[in-house]
Formats: sequence, structure tokens, C-alpha cells
Amino acid sequence: MKLFVDSANLAEIEASLVRGFASGVTTNPSILAKEEQRDYREIVRDIITLLQKHGDPVPLSVEVFTTDLDDMIRQAEQFVSEFGDYDGLAIKIPVGWDELRVIHALASRGIPVNATCGMALNQAVMALDAGARYISLFWGRIRDVGYDAGVVVSDVRAVMDRAGSTSEIIVGSIRHMMDVNQAILAGAHIVTVPPPFFPKMCEHPKTTEAVDQFVNDFAKWMS
Ligand code: E4P
Repeated sequence: MKLFVDSANLAEIEASLVRGFASGVTTNPSILAKEEQRDYREIVRDIITLLQKHGDPVPLSVEVFTTDLDDMIRQAEQFVSEFGDYDGLAIKIPVGWDELRVIHALASRGIPVNATCGMALNQAVMALDAGARYISLFWGRIRDVGYDAGVVVSDVRAVMDRAGSTSEIIVGSIRHMMDVNQAILAGAHIVTVPPPFFPKMCEHPKTTEAVDQFVNDFAKWMS
């Protein structure tokens, strides 16, 4: 069970890396667009430099930002030439009929593909069979239209396990802390979490109460 950081913000990524629990980073065009405007390649390069500073290369997903097939291929090629020196690079391609050609072409060249925007078992099966290294399933967006995201994730996991797949499910689109727990229990290999959730995931009022009591009891005894 792994946690990824769903952010392109260097400070947020670093705050997770120094605590040792983060084993990857995911971005998408909307996430990049939250950063101060500059060449996106500089942002990705800065993330890579930060990840390298913290040890072995961990997965970093960078997504194409077009719906045009030719542009998608061009952008994917550009990512490979710009960032292919980083071993953890995974290129995010949305699941779709035309997009399967890109997923397959990249995977055939040994480039890890994160098939993204997955909402259903059938999409996951097609993307994984086309060669995707990761299938990203969007928990919050699946629930937005009334489907049970837990069932989708557990069905995909069951099919992958039965087939002996070495690919992994990344659950994204986390909207509540509870989503993280439920996604883990449903069988996600990885949950990618917006950084504001991480401190809250560590907190518990009874933990705070216990620590305060221990410190106060000891201080009284010492005085
Ligand atoms: C991660 O890989 C996804 O791009 C991200 O979690 C999507 O989240 P959203 O549904 O909040 O846009």
C-alpha cells in the first residue's frame, strides 16, 4: 500500500518526502496550472531535481495536455526527450479509443504509461491490456455520477490479481479523508492524495490527549 503526492508544488512535495511516507508524485494539467505561471517544463524539472535529492527515483506522472491525437503523440515524445533521463517518469494518457494507440505505442517502447481518468472496469481492462503500467481510477468523479467507487476499484483489483498483472491501480480524485481509507480497503495499490489531507491523516484527538497527559504528568512530577 503506497501513498503518492497529488501535487506539483515543490514545498508540498518536499514536506511529504522528508517524512518518508511518500513513494511517488502525480500531476495533471489542472494541478500544474495551480502553480505560479512559468514554463511547465521548468516545474517538472524542478520536481525531478527535488525527487533526486531525496533518494532513488520514485514515480512521477506527467500528463499530456491535449485531446488531439497527433499533439498527444508529439507531447509524449517531448516528455520522453525532456524528462526521459529520470527513471521514474510515467506519462499520463487518458483512457480512450484513440488514446489506446498512444498508450500501446509508448508501452511498446518500454515507457511507463499511467492510463488516467479511468472510471470503469472495462476502461481499466483495455488500458492494462494495451500495456499501461498504472491505471488511475478517479474515486471522487466516479461517485459524482452515482456509482460506487469502491466496487470499481475492488473489481479492477480482482481482475488484475486473477490475471497476475504487475501493473498497479492508482486511486486519485480524493475529496475526503475517508476516501483514502476506503480506497485502500477496496484494493488500491496506490492512493494519490492532495497534500492538505496528509497532516489530518496523522492526527487523532485521543493521540493528542494522551501525549498532553504524559507530558503534563511528567512536568508535575519533576517540579
Ligand atoms: C490524479 O492522478 C488525478 O489527476 C487527480 O487526483 C484528479 O483529481 P480531481 O478529480 O480532483 O481533479
